[in-house]
Amino acid sequence: MVPLTVVPPPRTRSAPPSLILPGSLRATGISHSYPVGTRRRRRSANPALTGVTVTVAAGETVGLVGRSGSGKSTLLRVLLALERPTAGTIHLGGDRIQPGSARALRSFRRRVQYVPQDPAASLDPRMSVDRLVREPLVCLDVAGNHRNLVRTALDDVGLPASLGAHRVRELSGGQAQRVAIARALVTAPQFLLADEPVSGLDPPRRNRVLDLLAELARERRLGLVFVSHDLHAVARLCNRSIVLHSGQIVETGTTLDLLHRPGHHATRALVEALPVLPA
Ligand SMILES: Nc1ncnc2c1ncn2[C@@H]1O[C@H](COP(=O)(O)OP(=O)(O)OP(=O)(O)O)[C@@H](O)[C@H]1O
Ligand SMILES: [Mg+2]
Repeated sequence: MVPLTVVPPPRTRSAPPSLILPGSLRATGISHSYPVGTRRRRRSANPALTGVTVTVAAGETVGLVGRSGSGKSTLLRVLLALERPTAGTIHLGGDRIQPGSARALRSFRRRVQYVPQDPAASLDPRMSVDRLVREPLVCLDVAGNHRNLVRTALDDVGLPASLGAHRVRELSGGQAQRVAIARALVTAPQFLLADEPVSGLDPPRRNRVLDLLAELARERRLGLVFVSHDLHAVARLCNRSIVLHSGQIVETGTTLDLLHRPGHHATRALVEALPVLPA
């Protein structure tokens, strides 16, 4: 009798390889519900995200828009591997990102960085600017001369090296946001994920920070995900946008198309809420 040979099934990934663009950041089939209630009495909350799939290619700028509570920050936190989704997967290039390997997570965090909404609240006010910008290099084990890398990052965002000795509370809102961007850039990431990064700034400072982000994205071929309520700000920065509504993607397209020809009522509401720009 011929002995039977057991052939192991081919190894499969959750996303077919053809869907994974080289170097892209991809969230596939993401659903997420925050636990609510006490530990003893957990209730199922309304899902913050349901079946969301997003791909950001290297060098692509993508706007993430939607009204308050639509799930923008949750999706960003999932893409940053800060929030573990109830369902779905995250891939960076061909690598699936999952909790467990601290080393793999450090490498992911060097490549995918975050710009917060309110730097004054998220940056430690007791730390000097130099120390704040150096911190990711230390935490993420980045090789090289940290002093030079910090100086270069400050220079890249238009801040003088002399500011390095100051504390964040001594800076203006625009300068503090530049420190937050320098801190994100210092590890030479491939992707920047920014959650309403200019909402606390007055219009001239807002535009200068948006222009800085656009220039950095273009020069470094950074993939950029930019969360905002403000479609005008998004149009300044992002070719393509995704509209979230009640945790689902309801419309995607070029930002200009969404602005001029909104298809879904959620997109129309965002457009109608925009202030009329002077002619
Ligand atoms: N830590 C949390 N615990 C419980 N529920 C949460 C938590 N964070 C967000 N949610 C809920 O998840 C849903 C999506 O919230 P999320 O913060 O992602 O929305 P958003 O689009 O970023 O809103 P905003 O524009 O106000 O920042 C909301 O219903 C919110 O109340
Ligand atoms: Mg938010």
